[in-house]
Amino acid sequence: MSVDLRILPDPETLSRAAATAIVAHVRLTIEKQDRFSLAVAGGNTPRALYSILAAEFGGSIPWERVHVFWTDERYVPHDNPLSNYRLVCETLLDRVRIPWENVHPMPTGFPQPDDAASAYETVLRAYFPPPWPRFDLVLLGMGTDGHTASLFPGSPALEERLRWVTVVTAPAEPPRRLTLTMPAILQSASLHFLIAGQEKAAALRDSVAGGTDRIQPPAAAVLHSAEGTVVCWVDDAAASLLSPARS
Ligand code: 6PG
Repeated sequence: MSVDLRILPDPETLSRAAATAIVAHVRLTIEKQDRFSLAVAGGNTPRALYSILAAEFGGSIPWERVHVFWTDERYVPHDNPLSNYRLVCETLLDRVRIPWENVHPMPTGFPQPDDAASAYETVLRAYFPPPWPRFDLVLLGMGTDGHTASLFPGSPALEERLRWVTVVTAPAEPPRRLTLTMPAILQSASLHFLIAGQEKAAALRDSVAGGTDRIQPPAAAVLHSAEGTVVCWVDDAAASLLSPARS
């Protein structure tokens, strides 16, 4: 599948363009169905998008019909500065009129992270019919190593074909994380990557190219194997190593 690559000059215009498109997608979809499932990413890149959604589009989305899930979570308390739950609440959910029963954070209070992963899978299975969750829209970032969500290159989690949620030990702080598995991500109806900065250029080049089977970056697997539509929002700096034809 060809990658729908949208290149914007800088992170601010990227975030604004993505927010505009995402709001239009939510509004169009929700005309045809009762509710909308949105899976949000952590990390720094989506902060601007979340803030724009809250500040400029807060009244444009029928939040009472939107259910928010997480693609991954650092295994820290939800009030920890590293928490993706805290990030999305501070930048978006505390600032829009979403019923809190529509907000479905990944739990991080279980003594055993594996129990938290199972508990979240139960939450997902209560919302989505089997065999896999089919999120209406998933937001994803990409690390400099081509990871996405908390699926890192070489991780055994990349081989998971049964569970919807799993535990990983990431080569990043904090190491313990929960993440949607690759099959759970690939079934989504629509995926939007947000990638900005020169430090992402090599991983983006390799991911858009698809990599080789043996060393395919996890983001490449999503870009090229997703069941639904994939839009990759990137800024000029991240796109700087793409072939001219791509950019
Ligand atoms: C996380 C994210 C992770 C993130 C990438 C990019 O929990 O950190 O899910 O996959 O999207 O690491 O992070 P930045 O946007 O901060 O570069």
